[in-house]
Amino acid sequence: MHSLLLKNIKSLCGIDESGRLKKAGAEMAELDTIENAWLLIKDGLIADYGSMEEVDSQWTLDHGLSSIDCSGKFVLPCFIDSHTHLVFANTREDEFVMRIKGKTYEEIAEAGGGILNSARKLQAMHEDELFENALKRLNEVIAYGTGAIEIKSGYGLTVDDELKMLRVIRRLKEVSPIPIKATFLGAHAFPAAYKQNHMGYIDLIINEMLPDIAKEKLADYMDVFCDQGFFNIKETDLLLKAAKTYGLKAKIHGNELGYTGGVQTAVNNNALSVDHLEYTGDEEIACLLNSQTMPVALPGCSFFLGIPYAPFRKMIDAGLAVCLASDYNPGSTPSGRMGFVVSLACSQMKLTPEEAINACTINGAYALELSKSLGSITKGKLGSVIITREMPSLAYMPYSFGVDMVEQTIIKGKAFSH
Ligand code: NIG
Ligand code: FE
Repeated sequence: MHSLLLKNIKSLCGIDESGRLKKAGAEMAELDTIENAWLLIKDGLIADYGSMEEVDSQWTLDHGLSSIDCSGKFVLPCFIDSHTHLVFANTREDEFVMRIKGKTYEEIAEAGGGILNSARKLQAMHEDELFENALKRLNEVIAYGTGAIEIKSGYGLTVDDELKMLRVIRRLKEVSPIPIKATFLGAHAFPAAYKQNHMGYIDLIINEMLPDIAKEKLADYMDVFCDQGFFNIKETDLLLKAAKTYGLKAKIHGNELGYTGGVQTAVNNNALSVDHLEYTGDEEIACLLNSQTMPVALPGCSFFLGIPYAPFRKMIDAGLAVCLASDYNPGSTPSGRMGFVVSLACSQMKLTPEEAINACTINGAYALELSKSLGSITKGKLGSVIITREMPSLAYMPYSFGVDMVEQTIIKGKAFSH
C-alpha cells in the first residue's frame, strides 16, 4: 500500500465534507481551511487530514509512508479544467499579428482563417503526431496544477478527421494519469464546402458522425459553437436533440460574440454547461437561475481576443454557481495555465481569490460530472492536490500574475513529473 503524507502545511484549503456537488452564490466565498495542517493520501485517495497539533499515531505504523514537508506552502485541490481544445496541429500566431493590426477574430474566420485554418492543418497531420503533441501539452498543464481535463474535437470537420481527433483523445485517456472527458465538437464551424449548405453539414454530423462516435463510444459530451457567424439556435437545437438520442449531454459554446440565445438554447436542452458568456444579460441570468446548467467563463479568451469578460460578479451576486476554465486552443487562447485564469478572474472579473478557486475546483468538477471524486479536500476523493511555493497568503497566488505559484502537482498520491 502506498501512502503519502503532506505535513507542516501552512494552510490546507478547500476542505468540504458536506457532499455538495457545487457551490453557488454566497457559498462561493467559502473556502474551508486548516492552518498548520497535515493531509494523508492512501492508495490514491484522501484518507484523512487534520491539524499538526493533533498528529495521527497511525503514521508511525504505516511502513509504506513517504512524506513531503510543506512548511510555508499552501495545499489546494487540483484545478479542474472543464473546457479545452488541446489537440491541435498548428499554432496561429500569424492571426494574432493580424488582430494586432486591426482585423477581428470574426473577420479572420469569415476569410477562411481561424477554425478552418486549424482544420486544414489537422486534416494533414498523422494521428500519431497529433497524439505526441497533445500529450506534451497535457503533461505541461498537469505540471501547472490541472488534475482533470476536458478535451474537444472540432478541428477535423470531416467524418474521418473528427473520428481521428476523438481517437487521439481516447489514446490520451489511456495513458493519462488524470481523468479526461472527451467532447465531440464537429459543429465548431461550417467547412467551406458547406458555407451555403448548412443543412448538408448538419445532416453529415447527425447521420454519419454521431452514429460512428456512439458506436465506438468516443465521446462523453456534445458541443456546438452556437454564435453569430457559426451555428444558429435552430441548428444548435437540432444537433443537441440528435446527440441526446445517443446519450450525449450538451456542453455548448454560447454568447461569445453576441446576445444570440445560446444560453437559453443550452438551458432548454438541459446542457451540463454553457461556456464563454461574454455577452450575458439579465434574461440569460434569470434563465440560468432556473436550471442545473453550469455557466463557464474563459477569461484567457477575453484577455487574448480583447473582448468583454463574462459578468461573473453580477452572476454570483444573483446567486448562481459559476465555473472557470482555460479554453486552451491555438486561436483564441493559446494557454492552459489555470493559475493565470484565476488571476484574470480576480483582477478583471472581480472574483475574490476564494471564489475564483471554487470556480475552478468544485464547480469545474461539476461541469465534468466529477464532483464525487474531485474538486475539494474530502475524505474518499482522489488525492490530487497542488502544493504551492511558499506564500504569505492565499491572495498572493492570483496577485502574482504570470508567475507559476504551483510548485508540485500531486496526482492520486504521487508527485507528478514528466
Ligand atoms: O472556444 N469559440 C470557439 N472555439 C474556440 C476557438 C477556436 C479557434 O479559434 O480555434 C474558443 O474560443
Ligand atoms: Fe472553446
